[in-house]
Amino acid sequence: MDRERGKNIVLVGFMGTGKSAVAKIMATRTGKKLVEMDALIEGQEGMTVEVIFAQKGEPYFRAREREMVQRLSSQSGLVISTGGGVVLNPDNVEDFRKGGTVICLSASPETIFKRVKSQTHRPLLKTPNPLETIKELLAARAPFYEKADAQVNTDGKSLAEIAAEVERIISDNS
Ligand code: S3P
Repeated sequence: MDRERGKNIVLVGFMGTGKSAVAKIMATRTGKKLVEMDALIEGQEGMTVEVIFAQKGEPYFRAREREMVQRLSSQSGLVISTGGGVVLNPDNVEDFRKGGTVICLSASPETIFKRVKSQTHRPLLKTPNPLETIKELLAARAPFYEKADAQVNTDGKSLAEIAAEVERIISDNS
């Protein structure tokens, strides 16, 4: 398949729901180009997301994230793995939906906690009680994640199973 063409596949969802891993599989399967939004922002800013949050603050990061969404949603043939908070600006979801299918990966707070607890790079989860923080953020963000075109729950599923569900959604939407 011509990787320059075709609708974008955009994966949104909370931290630890498997966006990056599933995006990699989808890029291989479709021949579309894999784009990791956070990695692009890190490359552009010359520092990690963690350092951007610490030194410049979350609003600065969200502004760079918004610019990146605008840039990527004007292109086609991409599989885009987003940062978990990209949905907080409804314009981001709207822009992504214009040129692509936005699929939200979800998981229970307990599953997310299990997946992220050994990792230390997420500024929003550096709290005394990360499981509680995950529950609070998930509740606050639920109305934003609902705006995606489709939802895929990942609890208890293998990456292959999740990718197969995403593929079904994509073929139904194309
Ligand atoms: C964030 C999620 C992170 C990263 C930043 C903020 C969020 O990406 O963009 O730490 O607000 O949920 P991942 O979802 O890849 O961890």
